[in-house]
Amino acid sequence: MAAQIIDGFSIAQNVRAGVGEKVKELQAQGVIPCLAVVLVGENPASISYVTGKEKALAEAGMKSLDIRLPEQTTEEELLQRIDTLNKDSSVHGILVQLPLPQHIDEDRIITAIKPEKDVDGFHPVNVGNMMIGKKSFLPCTPHGVLVLLKTMGIETKGKHVVIVGRSNIVGKPLGILFTRREYNATVTICHTGTKDLSYHTKQADILVAAAGSPGMITADMVKPGAVVIDVGVNRIPDASKKSGFRLCGDVDFEGVKEVASHITPVPKGVGPMTIAMLVFNTLEAAVASIKA
Ligand code: GUN
Repeated sequence: MAAQIIDGFSIAQNVRAGVGEKVKELQAQGVIPCLAVVLVGENPASISYVTGKEKALAEAGMKSLDIRLPEQTTEEELLQRIDTLNKDSSVHGILVQLPLPQHIDEDRIITAIKPEKDVDGFHPVNVGNMMIGKKSFLPCTPHGVLVLLKTMGIETKGKHVVIVGRSNIVGKPLGILFTRREYNATVTICHTGTKDLSYHTKQADILVAAAGSPGMITADMVKPGAVVIDVGVNRIPDASKKSGFRLCGDVDFEGVKEVASHITPVPKGVGPMTIAMLVFNTLEAAVASIKA
């Protein structure tokens, strides 16, 4: 029997609608949550992500400060911008879209953002607090994956989660979060140095593909009945599309859906959840700023 398709698009809409209701309450107190969205350069995928994020913020009744800087922006100029945004009390969150141009040190930029405004959850203070289970902004994609599973009623306790990919944005933090007592999963993280990848992926009750490699997870790598979460967003050239490309996940969807019990599609799976959790974190940042 073919897998149940996890409708990330609808689940994300519900999250955003819930946040929108809370934003109305804040507006009644005279506070409009505001996220500064900083994009350096003209990477087409980044432009598309940033546009999607700003649209979702507006739909939830929030403000976004759209800051687009040229590719040649220096590290010092960007640090100056961040310093100004850190000091601006009407700005509750700051998001610098990654990747940055090669001449800018990403770690230096992320560390310059005030942890209280780091709605991506990338600042070392937030990463550290997440690691030890203290309150922090949770990174949006891992948090989105957990909300998807919870909403679908998929049990994680005692399950073996295998994550393919060890990025700071997805693989590593997701592994940490799954080991929290509330999820209580056993985690394996695979990466490019893993020997016999399919041995590991076949052990997974929940398999998360976050390697950035189109279609790399094939049906023969998946245990029958496993839950498969595809975090990959790869652009494949496609002359039949107006845009000239189509989106493709890290999972061979057509093959794997015949083996898995549940599967996320690309697009409309994990992607919309990332945006929904960003909107959620921006609300949290605004609420915390009132209490501060
Ligand atoms: N680039 C890819 N994913 C993300 C994300 O979640 N946040 C930011 N800032 N940049 C990204």
